[in-house]
Amino acid sequence: MRLLILNLSLVIILFSCSQEKSNDAILNQRVDSVLSLMTIQEKIGQMAQLSSWGSENRPLNEDLSYLQEIRTGRVGSMLNINGAEMTYKLQRIAVEETRLGIPLIFGFDVVHGYQTIFPIPIALSSTWDTSLVRWVSEITACEATSAGQHWTFAPMADVTRDPRWGRIAEGCGEDPFLTSAMVIAQIKGFQGKDLGLKNTMAACAKHFVAYGAAEGGRDYNTCEVSDRTLQEIYMPPFKAAADAGIASIMMALNDLNGVPSSSSSELKQVLRENWSFKNILVSDWNSIGELVTQGKAENAKDACLQAFNTSIDIDMQGNIYANQLEKLYNEKIISEKEIDNSVRRILKLKFLLGLFDDPYLYSDPVREKSTLSKPEFIKASEYAACQSVVLLKNKSNILPLSQKTGKIAVVGPLSDDKSNILGSWRAIGEPDSAVSVLEGIKTKYTNSKILHAEGCSIEGSSKNGFEQAIQAANNSDVIIAVMGERSPEVNKTLSASDISLPGVQRDLLKELKATGKPIVLILLNGRPIALDWESKNIDAIAEAWFPGTKAGNAIAKVISGEINPCAKLPVSFPHTTGQIPVYYNHKKFGRTPSPNTKEQAKYDDGPEEALFPFGYGLSYTQFEFSDLALEKNKLPKDDSLNIRVTVANTGDRDGCEIVQVYVRDLIAEVTRPILELKGFQKVYAEKGRSVEVRFKIAVSDLGYYNIDLKHVVEPGNFELMVGNSSVNYLKTKFTVID
Ligand code: GLC
Repeated sequence: MRLLILNLSLVIILFSCSQEKSNDAILNQRVDSVLSLMTIQEKIGQMAQLSSWGSENRPLNEDLSYLQEIRTGRVGSMLNINGAEMTYKLQRIAVEETRLGIPLIFGFDVVHGYQTIFPIPIALSSTWDTSLVRWVSEITACEATSAGQHWTFAPMADVTRDPRWGRIAEGCGEDPFLTSAMVIAQIKGFQGKDLGLKNTMAACAKHFVAYGAAEGGRDYNTCEVSDRTLQEIYMPPFKAAADAGIASIMMALNDLNGVPSSSSSELKQVLRENWSFKNILVSDWNSIGELVTQGKAENAKDACLQAFNTSIDIDMQGNIYANQLEKLYNEKIISEKEIDNSVRRILKLKFLLGLFDDPYLYSDPVREKSTLSKPEFIKASEYAACQSVVLLKNKSNILPLSQKTGKIAVVGPLSDDKSNILGSWRAIGEPDSAVSVLEGIKTKYTNSKILHAEGCSIEGSSKNGFEQAIQAANNSDVIIAVMGERSPEVNKTLSASDISLPGVQRDLLKELKATGKPIVLILLNGRPIALDWESKNIDAIAEAWFPGTKAGNAIAKVISGEINPCAKLPVSFPHTTGQIPVYYNHKKFGRTPSPNTKEQAKYDDGPEEALFPFGYGLSYTQFEFSDLALEKNKLPKDDSLNIRVTVANTGDRDGCEIVQVYVRDLIAEVTRPILELKGFQKVYAEKGRSVEVRFKIAVSDLGYYNIDLKHVVEPGNFELMVGNSSVNYLKTKFTVID
């Protein structure tokens, strides 16, 4: 029968070519030709996705029931199958042992690397460099597709304003504009220009929608978000992904304003009608089955119908579609025509991936062996890690640290860590091939005496190791304290009720401080850390996130000055956990904090602004902004702002600056943020030189959702801010006219 499908497809192509049909028309005809051969059971099978952990070093347990499911044509895609050999094995079963031979799609969470691990997404977002992020995704796709993967469950497009939510690590920060830019860059990197190429793969924007707004920062918790905030903050990155042609969108596990995303007519309307999104919708891991747990569905059959009516095409590891859809069909509650809509979208992706032409295209062990961990990929990982380190503090320019430094004490629970540095969703990244900070420093500081002591663990209360660490500190000229958080391996990062340094790490820092030696704090973590004490007492602080395979080399290059840091925070760092939320683009209060008014929107026990704000990051050189100018100060709605600014490198070393453009709408029908990011560019300037930086921003991009939730661009006065963070900028004004 498989031969019949191939021949049928071939005839269609030949016939269509003679008719000069469009590619879309040919594709649709090929899809319909397969659809016409399928039984209802086979159609439903395409909508089922199963998981297992087979790979060459974890042989499939041959009696696993899903192998039989594949043989009966009841599985359309698999996730978590690793390796060319293993995917080939399963693909052969699907292609050679089923009635129609419809190939499987293999999906995996390929987020920031596959075997070569890059910095975690929030670190990549800290580079504010979309070209770099695209390149990272291209390399990641190269490795993953060589190992049989067709589909990645990335990018995570969730804006996150609450750093207690551990999955902030997988996103691009608190701002919708920056997140949208980074999501588009990742999609271009993963999908390339042609999904049929063997080094490109389907991407999946997740988790639709507002999953990052989990109440209390607790993963899976309910989300209460106003319609306006939904439209202005959480929706834009997904709309950007849809407009960028993303192959799929994953529905979120949470309930949004009382309605679980996997059973939402409203979200279906946004996707299928308002956005005309014609590609695959996939549930998040058993989110369909969880409709019963959430009390939204009576039972599995009810949950199945609700998800089907939300236009979800694939049930990820839920066994709900596989076990319930046929019942709904037999009871004429759903029609074959409706099922066909979903199956068409799935078959279309399989055709676009080239799987009907060559189901084994991505399962070539020879290519896999020559592709994984290529030296140039490893080098790229180190480069990306260097670019993602945010220098938060550098008192008395203690950094860069001279390579002539006599004795360096490298201390802290993450000082010689080779696992957490890979971050969460590390695919098949190997700690053994990773470089710890200690190793990186030893490589870089060959003339220095390196003393090492961990001092304490990441979590826990034991101070037994303190003495050894303090001894090392007392015998050194400078202390490099490497601290931060634990990162789970294959899954999400943890939600925290306190985002200060875990365990007794701050206690250790206090004792190290008492030695009187200068301290450089290197942070390895997946979220903002509350650094109130550290910011006052530690000489230098660098936020390195979880930098991936070459963490140690990258950090050593930055602290030694071989690389001049230029990364900027994509998320605000609060002084304390109690300050959350503290995002930058907040509304203007009626009682703005000021010295001479009593009733103010402030805390009596601490500051209200962020400790380290959105867009902030230091360099080893200094940049000054001047000559901010607009080509016109009065513009009609269909015009564009043409902005010019001069950036001078006034320091003593070459470096990059991230020039940021913010806008504020001064008067509107609803309160507006005090500023909103509307543009950014990474620019390079040699020491002593200036560069002119230009931006063009369409006035139509300055709209908002009015009192009726209609997106409007209104005439009125605006402020424009251009600078190197959300708190340091030049300001001018302009007016939009009718
Ligand atoms: C998880 C995650 C999702 C991931 C999926 C498959 O539940 O929420 O981000 O892609 O399972 O691993």
